[in-house]
Amino acid sequence: MKECSFIGKTLDFSKSLDIDLVKKFVVFDEIPSTNIEAKELAENGEGEGTVVLARIQKKGRGRFNRLWESPDGGVYLSIILRPDCPSDKATLLSLLAAIAVSTSIASYGVSAKVKWPNDIRVNGKKIAGILLESEAFGNSLKYVILGIGINLNIDKNLLSAKVKSISTSLSEEIGTSINYHSFIKNLLFNLDEYYKLFLSKKYDRIIKEWKNQSDTLGRIVRITTSSEQIIGKVYDIDRSGFLIVILNSGKHKTITSGDCTYIEK
Ligand code: BTN
Repeated sequence: MKECSFIGKTLDFSKSLDIDLVKKFVVFDEIPSTNIEAKELAENGEGEGTVVLARIQKKGRGRFNRLWESPDGGVYLSIILRPDCPSDKATLLSLLAAIAVSTSIASYGVSAKVKWPNDIRVNGKKIAGILLESEAFGNSLKYVILGIGINLNIDKNLLSAKVKSISTSLSEEIGTSINYHSFIKNLLFNLDEYYKLFLSKKYDRIIKEWKNQSDTLGRIVRITTSSEQIIGKVYDIDRSGFLIVILNSGKHKTITSGDCTYIEK
């Protein structure tokens, strides 16, 4: 069995974890953000496969600088990746993380859907999100911090009214609490499987699986980017995981990043 190093708390699954990708855990009780911590570690040369895990985050970061509310009961982890690939492949990494999360949720009998690029939702409510932060060196990725936040056993009363109205948790969906360590183990196992596909450049397999688990294709969407708002019908995603929409004019437009809202089916 492979040895994993643990800093701080020992995790229950430390003896049984045998996942190629995972090399080390850095575990915190409370921390501002696992992404911030992982980024600092990566800047200081920490290798691929270090997982930063926290019970509570005080300044959890969401996409577009939003706050990711992170009370006790959720899964908050960030993993350092150092794939040898061009930086335009980063979006695919966040798509594969989203399908790893939705696959893990599905194993509890709950049908989770992925919304482009990487929201995980159950019955239209958000259950998990991915924050990918990458550092490039020229056209290559130097490192990637893959941050994953999941509402696992969250008491929704601990969330703000705004977040509460648009969120759900896995415990709420199945009516019972879930074993934290088993869930994380299963998640890291799924992540490892999809990451292996990525490293062997089987991008089409990742795209195919993402399409299977997504409810974005065919939707009328509003995409807000840093410079514009685009409304169109989702036609497809390409090999890099970019969204292809058909505009009112009939033209196709490829969108590399942005905030996506469904307008109608
Ligand atoms: C989103 O906006 O949907 C992305 C949310 C990502 C939250 C996770 S929780 C673990 C990691 N640490 C952070 O500060 N953010 C990510």
